[in-house]
Amino acid sequence: MQKKLHNIVKETNSYLYRYFSKQKKTELIKPMLYGLLPGGKKVRSKILFDVGLIFKVNKKDILQVAAAVECIHAYTLIHDDLPCMDNDNLRRGKLTTHKKFSESTAILAGNSLLTIAFQILSHKALKINEQKKTKLINLLAESSGHSGIAGGQFLDLSYEKIKKSKKQIKEMQIKKTGKLFSFCCVAPIIMSGKIKYFNRFSKIGNQIGLLFQIADDLIDLRGKTSSAGKKTKKDLKMGKATLISLLGTDNTIKYADNLKLKIFKSLKIFGKKSDDFKETINYILSRSK
Ligand code: IPE
Ligand code: IPE
Ligand code: MG
Ligand code: MG
Ligand code: MG
Repeated sequence: MQKKLHNIVKETNSYLYRYFSKQKKTELIKPMLYGLLPGGKKVRSKILFDVGLIFKVNKKDILQVAAAVECIHAYTLIHDDLPCMDNDNLRRGKLTTHKKFSESTAILAGNSLLTIAFQILSHKALKINEQKKTKLINLLAESSGHSGIAGGQFLDLSYEKIKKSKKQIKEMQIKKTGKLFSFCCVAPIIMSGKIKYFNRFSKIGNQIGLLFQIADDLIDLRGKTSSAGKKTKKDLKMGKATLISLLGTDNTIKYADNLKLKIFKSLKIFGKKSDDFKETINYILSRSK
C-alpha cells in the first residue's frame, strides 16, 4: 500500500510541477505551490486511481483529474488554517501559508488554487468527450461550494462549542470532507460511462469521507504533532463537534469499523478488482497521519 501510494504522490506531484511551470509567472505562484506541494498523502488521488482500475479508465486521464482534486484540497487546507477558521500555524510539517506569507496572500493563493482546478479539468489535454468533461466540472463545482466543502466548513465553525446531534455532525462531516471523496469515487464512473454504478459509488464516497474525518479526529485526539505534521489535541479545546465528542472514542471506533464493513459489502460484486480500493479504505482508518 505504502509503495502504491508513494507512486501516486510522485506522479501527481510531478504532473502539478509541470502544469505550474507552464503558467504565467505571477506573484501568487509561489504561495500557491507552497500550499500545494510537495506535502500531502494524496489519498483522494489514490481513490481516483483505485476506482479507475475497477472501471478500466485511462490512467493519464485520471492523473489530470487527480491534479485538479489536489488543487481544490490544498485550497481548503490553506483556508481552513486561517485565523478566522481553525487558526493553525503548522501544516504538512511546515508553517501554514498565511504564516509563511500573509493572510491576504493565503486567501488569494487559496482562491487561485480553487480556480486552477477548473483550468486543469477544462484543458484540452484532458482527452475525454466534452459532455463527460462538463459533467466532471459541474460535479466538482457542486462538491466544493455551498452544498459541499464550503458549506460543511461553515457548519463546522458554527457548531463550535454547541452540542449537536449525531445526524447533524454526520451531515456536516459528509459535506466538509465526504463530498470531495464522493467526487473521486464517481469521476471514474463518469469517465467510463458506466453510469448505472453512479449512486452506489456516490454513497460509498460519502461514507469514506466520514471514515476519513473520524480517523482525522482520532489523530487529533491521540496523535503527535510531529508525526501528524499539524498541531494535534486542538479539537477539544476549540469545542469542535465531532463523533468522538458526542459518542466517545470506543463507540466512534465501533461505528467506523461497522461503516467500513458496509462499504466492503457494497464492493463485493466487484471481487478482486476492488482489492486496491479496499486496501486504501483500510489505510484511511489505520493511518497515523
Ligand atoms: C486533511 O486532509 C483535512 C481533512 C479533510 C481532514 P488530509 O489528511 O488528506 O491532508 P493531506 O493532504 O494529507 O495533508
Ligand atoms: C478540515 O477538517 C476539512 C477540510 C475540508 C479542510 P479539519 O479542520 O479537522 O482538518 P485538519 O485537522 O485541520 O487537517
Ligand atoms: Mg477545520
Ligand atoms: Mg483544521
Ligand atoms: Mg482535524
